[in-house]
Amino acid sequence: MDKIRIRGGHALNGKIQIGGAKNAALPLMAASLLTEETLKLAPMPHLADITTMVNLLGQHGVKVVLNGEGQNGGSAGRALSLTADDVSSVTAPYDLVRKMRASVLVLGPLLARFGKAVVSLPGGCAIGSRPVDLHLKGLSQLGAEVEVEGGYIHASAPQGLIGGRVVFPQISVGATENLLMAAALARGESRLENAAREPEIANLAECLIAMGAQIDGVGSDTLVVQGVTELHGAEHAVMGDRIEAGTYAIAAAITGGSLDLDGARLAHFDAVAGVLREAGVTVEQRNGGVFVSRANHALVGVDVMTEPFPGFATDLQAQTMALMTVADGASMITETIFENRFMHVPELRRMGASINLHGGSAMVRGVDRLTGAQVMASDLRASASLVLAGLAAEGETLINRVYHLDRGYERLEEKLAGVGADIERVEAAE
Ligand code: UD1
Repeated sequence: MDKIRIRGGHALNGKIQIGGAKNAALPLMAASLLTEETLKLAPMPHLADITTMVNLLGQHGVKVVLNGEGQNGGSAGRALSLTADDVSSVTAPYDLVRKMRASVLVLGPLLARFGKAVVSLPGGCAIGSRPVDLHLKGLSQLGAEVEVEGGYIHASAPQGLIGGRVVFPQISVGATENLLMAAALARGESRLENAAREPEIANLAECLIAMGAQIDGVGSDTLVVQGVTELHGAEHAVMGDRIEAGTYAIAAAITGGSLDLDGARLAHFDAVAGVLREAGVTVEQRNGGVFVSRANHALVGVDVMTEPFPGFATDLQAQTMALMTVADGASMITETIFENRFMHVPELRRMGASINLHGGSAMVRGVDRLTGAQVMASDLRASASLVLAGLAAEGETLINRVYHLDRGYERLEEKLAGVGADIERVEAAE
């Protein structure tokens, strides 16, 4: 299993190209199931989760073609063409769904277009139990019959889905996306209230509109959809990855460097920018990207609470905690979205961090320096926090189980090495 070795203490300076967003690309790919015509998406990030979705869609019978090369020899500019003109199976099997929760996003489109879908329940994951009850309840409110049996969701609507009012009792990104795709092909009007407002949902809505869907309220918490009988093909731009951008912004901050994040949009991580500024970091929109710098400034501890967008993203909580471990003073970090998203805490402690957990909050007391250690990645964003800590630590950090990182960060070690980090992937003989 590969490991990542980092020798810390180098300020990062230069430019990093931000890729297409994983969390936008996955629902967009699922949306290809809504039409028999071709949906073309670019730029597609080259990530393990995208490959899992390609395999899942391929298994349903979707034809998938990957074109083009990205900049700097990478794949950031690649386009994916998806054609669901001959869907042979409406079943999403356990073997694929268990690898990635976002697989459940095929449920809404399959049900809306074919009147039937059988999708494995995703099961738990490292950051919590993560049920899909909101997806299922919402689809029943559009007239679907939904049963769970033998670990599978069996959903049917032989006469098609019927528009309805869905008031989400709790904000869910995935449930909003599933319902939005389903409502696009339902008969009549659907209102999705208390919908999630993450930019990835607006990106999906814009794609659906390009495919012929009628959606009002894009970007707000109430989406009103007039169902249409069919959708058509389209070409759509995948938004830049705001979590990747936020992670590299923290890399600049934790190493006391300056980075231009090409293709990032400040409007997509306002809350994070606010925290970074309060901590003493310069963050501004500049030259088609975001400029982040902490040259010559001390870091100050700031309290952080995760919330649905436009609040502070839970997907940047672990990385922000790494930053706060070396800030002056204390920082209270409260996680409100997932119940078990502190797996990075014991690993950061192994590097010398001072962190106490109290339920859903972590009290971080800044230390003068972290020291390199062998650490274990537990999930995608926790792994990123260990990389950031390693970049700032004295000595060598060896991160095990880096396959978690490959799910969501394209060419991470190459991008960081390009701006001055001493980082390499080592193929461990096991
Ligand atoms: C998406 C993101 C993930 C991010 C999360 C929160 C993708 C592919 N993944 O995940 O990176 O961390 O949003 O911003 O876009 N919940 C229920 N019942 C449900 C659905 C959700 O109780 O049916 C709970 C979850 O357990 C969690 C909270 O609602 O506590 C928010 O989850 P949700 O917004 O649905 O996250 P995902 O869409 O899975």
